[in-house]
Amino acid sequence: MALKRVMVLTGGGDCPGLNAVIRGIVKRASQENDWEVVGCIESFNGVLREPTEIEILDEKRVEGLQIQGGTILGTTNKGGPFAWPVKNSDGTWTTADRSDEMLRKLQYMGIDAVINIGGDGSQRISLGLYNKGLNIVGVPKTIDNDLSMTDYTFGFQTAVQICTDAIDKLVTTAASHNRVFIMEVMGRDAGWIALHSAIAGGADVCLIPEIPYDIQKIKAKIEKRYNKRRGNCIIVIAEGAKPVGGGVTGTETGEVGYQHIKLGGIAEKLAADLKAAGVEHDIRCTILGHLQRGGTPIAFDRILATEFGVRAMEFVLEGRFGQMVAYHHPDIIGVSLEEAVRNPHLVDPNERLVHTAKGVGIEMGD
Ligand code: F6P
Repeated sequence: MALKRVMVLTGGGDCPGLNAVIRGIVKRASQENDWEVVGCIESFNGVLREPTEIEILDEKRVEGLQIQGGTILGTTNKGGPFAWPVKNSDGTWTTADRSDEMLRKLQYMGIDAVINIGGDGSQRISLGLYNKGLNIVGVPKTIDNDLSMTDYTFGFQTAVQICTDAIDKLVTTAASHNRVFIMEVMGRDAGWIALHSAIAGGADVCLIPEIPYDIQKIKAKIEKRYNKRRGNCIIVIAEGAKPVGGGVTGTETGEVGYQHIKLGGIAEKLAADLKAAGVEHDIRCTILGHLQRGGTPIAFDRILATEFGVRAMEFVLEGRFGQMVAYHHPDIIGVSLEEAVRNPHLVDPNERLVHTAKGVGIEMGD
């Protein structure tokens, strides 16, 4: 009997739980007699490069992978089949659409189906390829939790735990030195990591992209936390947060194929603005950065990632292409890729968790 082949790949920024998804796919596939799993290196690049970079994934290869952070397949958040970076003769860069060439190559390689594990950018690529006839299933990943149509993406809870642990540590040093601490966390346009960790860690101020902040509100909260010079204040700020009337803080990376502005620096800006507004207490900034994406996934994310992997493979077996597996408590369901990427999942300022944060006295800056 000829084996059928499913190709798995990971795209976008890495995230704890990617390997657990890969393991779930391979373990579920191994229960069928007629399916083989191959992994593509660095998103679709493994197919687009010459020589092709793919590897066979069997049960031995994925043993114990539910614990391991990162992705054994490697990943990239640059380029892709629809926007492959090409260097012009004058040294500048442009992009080329190599999607048709890639689809022909996949056919030649005997790939019957593809599982693309990635965030919004990756699932947009999935949709584009599905519309061109590829049998593809999406799996939602990102620490930002900004994909709609799924209650949670895997990796998010691990990032929240890392941020919460960091707040727990900052609280003791802030109290010892009577300091204001500003902790900058990831999340791009979404404030989910900041909001969740601020509540879990008992922060005093939480600033998110969805609610532009008024510096005077933050200053007032800081002063409330001090009795003359004694006191402390913990501020959690999302990297995409912005003051009322202002924009985001970030830089162009200049990296070929990188289509985002690299967010970062808002904590230092806020510290300077607070000083300028008359705050005299010591202020220190902590930027967690990629610590939030590294290391082992917590149990919740291992379980969710495993469920996504098993179901994604079952979607392949059932021929449910053009869909993304999604967590709708208490079920793992399928949603169309089109719906999945239509709108980002952002914090609604009127939502339950914002209400809870304000209910325990967290200043949201509005
Ligand atoms: O989307 C995930 C994310 O970690 C964001 O929270 C962050 O802004 C971005 O990726 C960082 O990307 P890079 O690893 O390319 O710097």
